[in-house]
Amino acid sequence: MSQRSGERMRTTRGNSKEERLPRLPVSIFEKVLIGNVAVVLFGAVVGTLVTREFFRIQEAALAFGFSFGGVLLSAAVNYTLLRIAFRPLYQLRDTISKITQGDRQARAIESSDDPLIHDLSASFNQMVDALETSRREASRMIIETQEQERKRVARELHDETTQDLASLAIRTELLRSKLHDPLLVQAVAELQEEIERTLTEMRRITYDLRPSMLDDLGLAAAIHWYVQHRVDSEQVQVDLQVDELPRYDSSLETAVFRIIQEAVSNAVKYAQMHHLEIHVHEQPSGKQLQVLISDDGVGFDPSSVRTEASGRGLGLYGMRERAETIGAHLEIQSSPGNGTKILLVVPIPQEQWEERSDADARLVSG
Ligand SMILES: Nc1ncnc2c1ncn2[C@@H]1O[C@H](COP(=O)(O)OP(=O)(O)OP(=O)(O)O)[C@@H](O)[C@H]1O
Ligand SMILES: [Mg+2]
Repeated sequence: MSQRSGERMRTTRGNSKEERLPRLPVSIFEKVLIGNVAVVLFGAVVGTLVTREFFRIQEAALAFGFSFGGVLLSAAVNYTLLRIAFRPLYQLRDTISKITQGDRQARAIESSDDPLIHDLSASFNQMVDALETSRREASRMIIETQEQERKRVARELHDETTQDLASLAIRTELLRSKLHDPLLVQAVAELQEEIERTLTEMRRITYDLRPSMLDDLGLAAAIHWYVQHRVDSEQVQVDLQVDELPRYDSSLETAVFRIIQEAVSNAVKYAQMHHLEIHVHEQPSGKQLQVLISDDGVGFDPSSVRTEASGRGLGLYGMRERAETIGAHLEIQSSPGNGTKILLVVPIPQEQWEERSDADARLVSG
């Protein structure tokens, strides 16, 4: 406790001392330049005075010549050298500004001759890499926890609420069969209809939370089911092509399904489209899954969709995050009036495609 307060006191004193010092609004580059000029100026004047004193040369022009020439030469040489020497620092500043604007791939150039600047760039890159790794890990954990929670709520809704509603529907049916008054029969029939509607809505919510089909039957079945239920095929012409897919790792299946779900849901909500294409193909080698979701609707400007800070546009942001967690490449191509294309390329983990090609080979040879 006392050590802590001591530290705080030292920090406070340090700050107040710093505050008393005048702060010059000049960069390191300018400070070094001014310092060099001052040294040359001093040298030239003192040199001339000393020369005059010892050799009795009374020549003010000599001092002026020394000073002027020295300053000019020194400024030119210093300017050129420092500009070259400080170039990595300017590049570092540009890198920081790119990262601040959301470019997570930007890194400082480490090829400087100056060991100090080289170390600075390398440490900066290490720090950004470490931050990016922990950000990805945190994001992966949030997505996983969210998915587990959705599963739990979906199971509870299915096992309890939906079951209760289903038994209520059966009991009202029994009740109706025992009634003779036509007015009461009519009232119970209406009640039954309402229960049926609530059941359907409850099944939809449960499925949106976590399609059991994804766990039971895999990606292709879940995509077919989702598109058939989400897109009104009387209004929109749907071209749905999904290869017969093997079972992948659950995290991969979930991420791909959620990305398709968000893209299709956005197209239905905003695109005002006539035509929707959903293609999911696995490369013959089994090493890659390629997904395309394309609509011919109103389109939008993806760069104008603010993410994170504003809290809006969480769908597109979530798509990118999910793609990152499975090492996939996601591209959103859209512009006002030109529809929207979403391309997703998912690398299949090596052990999965190797396992399958081994099984295929055994099948051919056996
Ligand atoms: N296929 C599309 N056609 C036209 N506009 C789109 C399409 N997809 C997205 N947009 C535009 O991009 C915006 C951001 O989409 P995003 O999915 O990130 O957020 P949202 O759907 O508004 O909210 P959320 O998904 O978090 O519920 C949308 O509000 C919409 O204006
Ligand atoms: Mg959305």
